[in-house]
Amino acid sequence: MSFTVAIDGPAASGKGTIAKALAAHYGFAHLDTGLLYRAVGRRMLNGERPAEAALALTAEDLEGEDLRGPDVAQAASKVAALPGVRAALVDFQRAFARRAGGAVLDGRDIGTVICPEAQVKLYVTASDDVRAGRRLAELLARGLDVTREGVLEDIRARDARDSARATAPLRPAEDAVLLDTTTLSIAEALADAIAAVDAARA
Ligand code: C5P
Repeated sequence: MSFTVAIDGPAASGKGTIAKALAAHYGFAHLDTGLLYRAVGRRMLNGERPAEAALALTAEDLEGEDLRGPDVAQAASKVAALPGVRAALVDFQRAFARRAGGAVLDGRDIGTVICPEAQVKLYVTASDDVRAGRRLAELLARGLDVTREGVLEDIRARDARDSARATAPLRPAEDAVLLDTTTLSIAEALADAIAAVDAARA
């Protein structure tokens, strides 16, 4: 039996942290779908055509510290607007969502396009300031040379591009549970997410 938790939201909203913790709590598998677009973005920065790169991804494409950096993030959000890139990644994500034992996927279009039939859909947000602060701390901890202004600009530019694109724009599914983490600790946000999953499993 498959059970899918779909988590969407803007950059640095906390959805990745919640997705990982939920997966650990229930023993589900977790897929950070942003990594797929980042991998395509990195290949584009290395001179490849995005749609071809999306078809050629291997497990090794999901490795490397630079995958998490702001340059690759911007490239990811550019290739993510291309319908050919998105189409190339659909089957893999849907197969992951249906795997036996349960799956949590986080991204931008999981509840709306990839898994509209997911048993649980969460849409995770937080204020721009809080999101920038969290991403800044994360990138500084990785040793990257970034500023608060630069990080804020990066996430605003990506959110604008991700929300405005014609194919699979960032938006909550109609039946998504909204989770604003602006004033929540990780433990509080996770407790809300667990309550939503428990309600769907009851
Ligand atoms: O989640 P993350 O910040 O790693 O995603 C990087 C970029 O990949 C996003 O800004 C977005 O453009 C794209 N993305 C997407 N659909 C997803 C996941 C990520 O378009 N399901």
